[in-house]
Amino acid sequence: MRPPPPPPPPLLLLWPLLLQLGGCGAAAPPADSRSQLPAPENPKIHLYNDQQVLSWEPVSLTNDTRPVVYRVQFKYSASDTWSNVRIPNCTRITATECNFTHTSRSKGFPMHFNVSLRVRAEQAEHVSAWGTVPWFEHYRNVTIGPPENIWVTPGEGSLIIRFSPPFDVDDPSTATFFYHVHYWEKEGRKQEKGPFRSNSIVLDDLKPLREYCLQVQAQILWKLSSTNIYSAPGHPSNITCLKTTIDASTKLQRDVLVAIGTFLVLAMLAGSCLFLVLKYRGLIKYWFHSPPSIPLQIEEYLRDPVQPILEALDKDSSPKDEPWDSVSVVSCPEKE
Ligand SMILES: *[C@@H]1O[C@H](CO)[C@@H](O)[C@H](O)[C@H]1NC(C)=O
Ligand SMILES: *[C@@H]1O[C@H](CO)[C@@H](O)[C@H](O)[C@H]1NC(C)=O
Ligand SMILES: *[C@@H]1O[C@H](CO)[C@@H](O)[C@H](O)[C@H]1NC(C)=O
Ligand SMILES: *[C@@H]1O[C@H](CO)[C@@H](O)[C@H](O)[C@H]1NC(C)=O
Ligand SMILES: *[C@@H]1O[C@H](CO)[C@@H](O)[C@H](O)[C@H]1NC(C)=O
Ligand SMILES: *[C@@H]1O[C@H](CO)[C@@H](O)[C@H](O)[C@H]1NC(C)=O
Repeated sequence: MRPPPPPPPPLLLLWPLLLQLGGCGAAAPPADSRSQLPAPENPKIHLYNDQQVLSWEPVSLTNDTRPVVYRVQFKYSASDTWSNVRIPNCTRITATECNFTHTSRSKGFPMHFNVSLRVRAEQAEHVSAWGTVPWFEHYRNVTIGPPENIWVTPGEGSLIIRFSPPFDVDDPSTATFFYHVHYWEKEGRKQEKGPFRSNSIVLDDLKPLREYCLQVQAQILWKLSSTNIYSAPGHPSNITCLKTTIDASTKLQRDVLVAIGTFLVLAMLAGSCLFLVLKYRGLIKYWFHSPPSIPLQIEEYLRDPVQPILEALDKDSSPKDEPWDSVSVVSCPEKE
């Protein structure tokens, strides 16, 4: 067992009490009445994409119903003087935040400026001490969200990705976004492409008719000087999965190939048939019992060359007229 610690000297014991009295101002002399009002606590600047919002905790006095208002001031690093924030109006406001974000009404702080902010509470004739946030430069301190409005169009063994930047930079000549694409086949290895400057990216070395998943990520590059570039990554987008297609021309190509293939197979079949027929001609003739024969009339003519060949053929064709006669006979009764 450790011995109990020796009692602290009386002055040390008094310290917390003295601090507390100072804070509440209960026993403070009139000279200190200005500090009755505590400073707004926990002020912080929220920088997300183009948003610039300062917020703090409300100052509440247990036994005083008079309204407490707040005043926000700013200062650029190049300047020594603090100024009230008038647009937006953050002077004598009751809200516990000040939204500087660039809109039609507010200009916002230039994104490459070094800005310091402070806020205090005011009640009647009393004012609090200033609560401060660390200096910031928007481009340096911002949290960059994912690229927005992502559109993926499947192509033939490819995916075309279009999107808009996380936010519009206020000076494109000094700050710009670059983009990276992470993509993978289902159960496949993750791959990365980039950086791209364009916000339209084509992944064109993919297999057709496969499902791919992808994420897009922005990266800010901010030119501080000709040799000094600040760079920071943004949040990756949600995962988008899409199947690559096979496009019309590939389909046509495939159909043409199939047609040519079919034709070749048929031609080969026909060729081999012909080959077999030629090779086994004798055998086939034997099977089909069709010995070559000379037409009857020619045979007769050969036997009796006196008879003219034309007459012989005529004689043969004359019986063919008879069926014609019988046909016309059949058709006549129908007309009557
Ligand atoms: C609050 O004010 C009331 C009267 O206005 C007074 O009676 C009370 O003692 C005060 N309380 C404190 C904690 O000052
Ligand atoms: C921004 O300004 C503050 C004070 O005004 C200074 O301490 C800080 O170094 C400046 N930051 C940069 C990057 O210059
Ligand atoms: C800002 O708003 C407060 C309360 O809404 C008002 O009292 C004050 O006069 C306004 N200040 C300016 C500069 O417009
Ligand atoms: C600040 O203003 C911007 C622009 O009007 C808005 O998009 C954003 O939601 C506001 N933020 C807060 C915390 O009110
Ligand atoms: C902004 O970034 C700088 C450097 O990282 C840092 O010192 C400063 O505290 C940041 N400001 C805020 C408000 O976070
Ligand atoms: C991303 O996913 C989260 C969680 O599923 C969802 O809340 C959010 O709205 C999605 N963002 C976009 C841009 O679709």
